[in-house]
Amino acid sequence: MPHGNHDVLIIGGGVAGLVLALEVADRRPVTLLRPASDDLGASRWAQGGIAAVLSPSDDIDAHIQDTLVAGDGLCDEAAVRFTVEQGPAAIEWLLDLGVPFTRDTNPAADYPYHLTREGGHGARRIIHAADATGRAVMDTLKARVAAHPTIWVRDDLTAIGLLQDDAGRCRGARCLDGKGTRVDLPAHDTVLATGGASGLYRHTTSPQPASGEGMLMAAELGATLMNLEFQQFHPTCLHDPEGAPFLISEAVRGEGGHLLNVHGERFMPAIDARAELAPRDVVARAIDAEMQRTASEHVFLDVRHLGEAAIREHFPTIHRHCARRGIDIAEAPIPVVPAAHYSCGGVATDRHGATDVDHLYAVGEVACTGLHGANRMASNSLLECLVFARSCAAALRDATRAPLPPRPTISVVAEAPPAALEAWRERMRALMSARVAIVRPDSGLDQAADELAELYQEVREAVEHGQPGARLSSLWQALRLARLTVASARARRESRGLHYNPDRQHHADRHPGPSRIHLGALD
Ligand code: SIN
Repeated sequence: MPHGNHDVLIIGGGVAGLVLALEVADRRPVTLLRPASDDLGASRWAQGGIAAVLSPSDDIDAHIQDTLVAGDGLCDEAAVRFTVEQGPAAIEWLLDLGVPFTRDTNPAADYPYHLTREGGHGARRIIHAADATGRAVMDTLKARVAAHPTIWVRDDLTAIGLLQDDAGRCRGARCLDGKGTRVDLPAHDTVLATGGASGLYRHTTSPQPASGEGMLMAAELGATLMNLEFQQFHPTCLHDPEGAPFLISEAVRGEGGHLLNVHGERFMPAIDARAELAPRDVVARAIDAEMQRTASEHVFLDVRHLGEAAIREHFPTIHRHCARRGIDIAEAPIPVVPAAHYSCGGVATDRHGATDVDHLYAVGEVACTGLHGANRMASNSLLECLVFARSCAAALRDATRAPLPPRPTISVVAEAPPAALEAWRERMRALMSARVAIVRPDSGLDQAADELAELYQEVREAVEHGQPGARLSSLWQALRLARLTVASARARRESRGLHYNPDRQHHADRHPGPSRIHLGALD
C-alpha cells in the first residue's frame, strides 16, 4: 500500500503502539510508523515490570486503593477500576504471546511467576522479566508485528503533524521522509502512541525520550490536554555525568535497597512510614531536599546487604551496566539522582483511547486516561499501555469509516541550522529543569513563563520562514508544550502529588480537580 490511503494509522512503536497494532490488524489493515531505532522512546528502557493482581493473596480493591493513594486525590476512580480489573487478562495475553517473564523458583509460591514490589504498592504484584521487562516485552511484540501479514511497518517517515478535514475530523498524518520530502498519509483512524514529554528536561531516565510532540499534534487539531503539570521524576537514575542516562529500577528498593545520604545515613524512615517504598513524588522530593541539605550532587542507593548472588539474579542488567561504569554494586553503594521519567498528563481520552477530535485516538504515555492522577504509581504505566491499547483496538475493530480526502501533496522542506536548533532546545531544557522540576515556587514559574515566551518568539520566526523540517517541527511542538505545562502549573494554586510549590498549601481547601488546557491558551 505504498501510496494509497490507510485504514488504521498508528504513530509510535513502543508497547502501546505494538499492542494496538496486533489487536486490531486481524480486522483492519494497520500502518505503523515507528522510529528506525528502538533506543528512542521509553518502552525499551522500562526495567521494573507490570503491576497487576496476579497472586491469589492479592486483590483488585487493594491495587485500586494503592493507585488512588499514590495519585493524591486526582485519579479518575472509574478509570482506575477499569485498568486494574483488565490487568490480569492483559498479562495472560502477553504470556500467550510468549513474553519470557521471570518464573518464581520457590516451590511454595502461590503464582508461577516472580512478583516484585515497588513504591506505593502494598503487595507483591509486579510481574517482570528480571530487570529488563521493557526489552523483553518489546522483543516479543516486535517479532509478532513483523510476522503479521496486515501490519505494514514504516520506519522511513517521521510524523510532523496531523491532517484535519473541514468537519474537524482527524484524517491521517503529515510526515517527512529522510530527504525532507513531505508525504501525507491519509487514514480513516489515527492513533497517537508517541510517548510522553520527559524530553522537555535536561536529565532523563531514558536516553532519547519524546518531548511531547504527539500531545501538541493533537492539540493543534483542538484536542484537550490534561494534567500537564504532573511530570514525574524517578527517584533513582544513576548519577553518571559522563555516561548515558541509566535507570536504577524501583524494584531495587522493592527488594530491600536503602537510600543513604552522602554521609552514609538512611533518611527515608524519618520522612515517611513507608520509607524507601513511599510513592515516587515523596521519595524524589526527599532526595532533592537531602541533596540540598548536604550540598551534594547525588545520594546513594545501597544494596550490598542483599548479597552478590541475589543482586546478580534479580538485577543482572543493572549489575552489568554499573560494572561497565566502574561500580561494583555488590561492594559499593550506587550514586543516584532523580531524573525526568514520566508524564502523568497528556491528551485527554476516554476508556477506549478516543480523544475529543473525531477519528483521533491516543494510547500510552501520550494519553491522559485519569489513571495516574497527580502521581503515577510504579509499574502502572506498562499496565495502562496494555489495557488501553486493547480497549482502543476493540473500539476500532467496529468503528465506521468516513471518506478520505484527496491523495497527498508532496513538497520538499528546509531545516533550520542544526547548531541553532540544538541551542534552542538546550535553553528550553535548562529552564524547565531549573524552574519547573521537583520544587517549583511561584517566582520560578513566572520566570519560566517569561523566558519561554521569549524563546517562543525566536523559534516562531524560523518556523514562519518556510516549511519546517523534522527537527524544527519537533522543537516547535516541544516548546509550545513546555509553555502549556508552565501555564497549567501556574494555574494550579495548590501543591499536590508531583506538583510541589512551596508557596502554595498542600491540597487547596476547594479541590480544583484535574486541569484541562487547549492550544488557544498561548494566544
Ligand atoms: C522502574 O523500574 O523503576 C520503572 C518502572 C516504572 O516507571 O513504573
